[in-house]
Amino acid sequence: MTSDVSPAARAAELRAILARANHAYYTLAAPELTDAEYDALFRELQALEAAHPELDDPESPTRRVGAPPVDELPKARHGQRMLSLANAMTNDELAAWLERAVRLDARAATAPLSVEVKIDGAALALTYADGVLLRGVTRGDGSEGEDVTPNVRTILDIPTRLRGAGWPARMEVRGEAYMPRAALIAVNRERAALGLDPLANPRNAAAGGLRQLDAAETRRRRLRFFAFQVVPLEGALTATTHGEVLERLAAWGFSIEPHHRRCADLAEVQAMADAWEERIRTLPYDADGLVVKLDPLALHAELGTTGDREPKWAVARKFPPPAAVTRLLDVQLNVGRTGALAPRALLAPVPLGGVVISHATLHNEALIAQRDIRIGDWVEVIRAGEVIPKVVRSVTERRDGRERAYEPPADCPVCGTPIVQPEGEVARYCPNATCPGRGQEGLIHFCGRSAMDIAGLGEERVRQLVDAGLVTTPADFYRLTVDELLALDGFAEQSATQLVAAIDASRARPLSALLFALGIRHVGEVVARLVARRFGTLAAVRAATLEQLEAVAGVGPTIAASVHAWVREPAHARLLDALAARAVGAEEPRVATGEGPLAGKAFVLTGTLPTLSRAEAGARIEAAGGRISGSVSRKTDFVVAGADAGSKLEKAQALGVAVLDEAALLQMLDGSA
Ligand code: IVH
Repeated sequence: MTSDVSPAARAAELRAILARANHAYYTLAAPELTDAEYDALFRELQALEAAHPELDDPESPTRRVGAPPVDELPKARHGQRMLSLANAMTNDELAAWLERAVRLDARAATAPLSVEVKIDGAALALTYADGVLLRGVTRGDGSEGEDVTPNVRTILDIPTRLRGAGWPARMEVRGEAYMPRAALIAVNRERAALGLDPLANPRNAAAGGLRQLDAAETRRRRLRFFAFQVVPLEGALTATTHGEVLERLAAWGFSIEPHHRRCADLAEVQAMADAWEERIRTLPYDADGLVVKLDPLALHAELGTTGDREPKWAVARKFPPPAAVTRLLDVQLNVGRTGALAPRALLAPVPLGGVVISHATLHNEALIAQRDIRIGDWVEVIRAGEVIPKVVRSVTERRDGRERAYEPPADCPVCGTPIVQPEGEVARYCPNATCPGRGQEGLIHFCGRSAMDIAGLGEERVRQLVDAGLVTTPADFYRLTVDELLALDGFAEQSATQLVAAIDASRARPLSALLFALGIRHVGEVVARLVARRFGTLAAVRAATLEQLEAVAGVGPTIAASVHAWVREPAHARLLDALAARAVGAEEPRVATGEGPLAGKAFVLTGTLPTLSRAEAGARIEAAGGRISGSVSRKTDFVVAGADAGSKLEKAQALGVAVLDEAALLQMLDGSA
């Protein structure tokens, strides 16, 4: 340490040098210091701050190593809704998008277009006040996300203090947090050494990384950030084109996607799309298309949004998902928590979308026969955004006669019980309620977010507890002790205490969460809530007659019979006794319906909605006075259908019941339709 300057002056100097070095390294990709030089200065600053607590500064580069863990991420509302993008899968769809824009404003016909690579990560909104980072919020449902400020501070190409000048006094900078593929590989190597499950893909790793309770874990993920939007909240931004906004962002110290380009017209964008379709996979990060935006900001204001969800002035020109062709070595059957059997393809390892895969889903056994997929076949595998890749077809031209058909086993591969196939269902089931294959999946489900929401009990941990013989039924979680956990790999005093506390806290989860957690067939989140609100307590549900269960609005005879039989099954009854003895599950607050814009309307939800989870959509409908029901009948007023909606949508169409998409539902909830 130099002796001729005051500690305060030296700290300020070190902070400036390190901030500059971070920017040079992460944003400009032009390092100014060697790693050793950087480390030495960093340690000097750390020592200085430790010796002089009065020099404390939340903006110090040393703070980027992470703040103390929190119990829960606070919710935060966005200053302005965070939008998503409409998709154009082909150049023709791109042309159609532009035509629609031109119809709304003729100036769009001659406007230049700004094109960026669409990074596949997690959207993030950063609030800056007078150029200083105040908070970072995830996208959430678009209106409200989670405050992840301490985590955001660990992302080294997010400036905590802007350079230059000219920013609005208060603004949100929006962009995409992402994980470079190389970081995923490095992180997974570290995780493997610690006995942790690998992260499935960069997008989930980024989204999950942002939402960590412990910022140190976020830092370990080495996330990065590209900025692409400024939302002024106070004061204005003097820019007239999107291209200028990107220039401004870069000047303030943000990383911007380096391949962005201004195109003079549609033909140029289409040519760029053709050129990028293959090239996109060669980028060091996952990207699934291009984002095309009308360049003049005046047009953004003029065109506005579709149903408050998608801007009309921008579109995502998406590329088909990455595919690979490899050998199908075998088909394994996994037992799910309801006993449903899920065939899993064992593949010759092949790179796909940046990771090497050796497993893929085959959905259900019927599909294997339908698509004539044989063991030994060359098969095409895709990863369409979801974590688990799927086998889509066999490359029959490459058969050499040694392939063999898949023979569905007659007995459960885990416990040997004869497999059953309920009438009218595609899936086959292991009917043994105590099948160990089923148990483990059930335990994992039990701890999940929408179920008992036990932080720290992920797949890997649950398997560890099962393997150690500590847990066989969900009730066993509630008698785990710190000492038992300490005897296991990977637990220290703090983590063991935290886990026991998290399990303890889950006792207060309401009856609806517990009913869903139990994994009763046909009882999803929505049905669980309907039943819980009618009966209030677990004891009342157990005592309910078949008739009483059937009388709950939205619960049909199949669901009622399933619940009624489940709670009476001796092994389940013992489990419920044990849970009750351990005070698991709180009474459900009963809610009156009948008021609000949707009063008296009966809704059925089906398929995957673009932004709302089913539970969220259900809760909002009920809050607006509507009723949720599990099956479509003539009494249904509306069916809200998302992607992959199946028989419920068909039934609605057959009965002439009105079908809504999420945007229309949101409008009704606002009372604007
Ligand atoms: S613009 C109004 N630009 O893609 C602004 N989005 O599918 C809407 N994304 O939510 C977004 N790169 O998380 C925009 N250059 C880019 C983008 C981008 C990635 C993400 C973003 C958005 C999602 C929509």
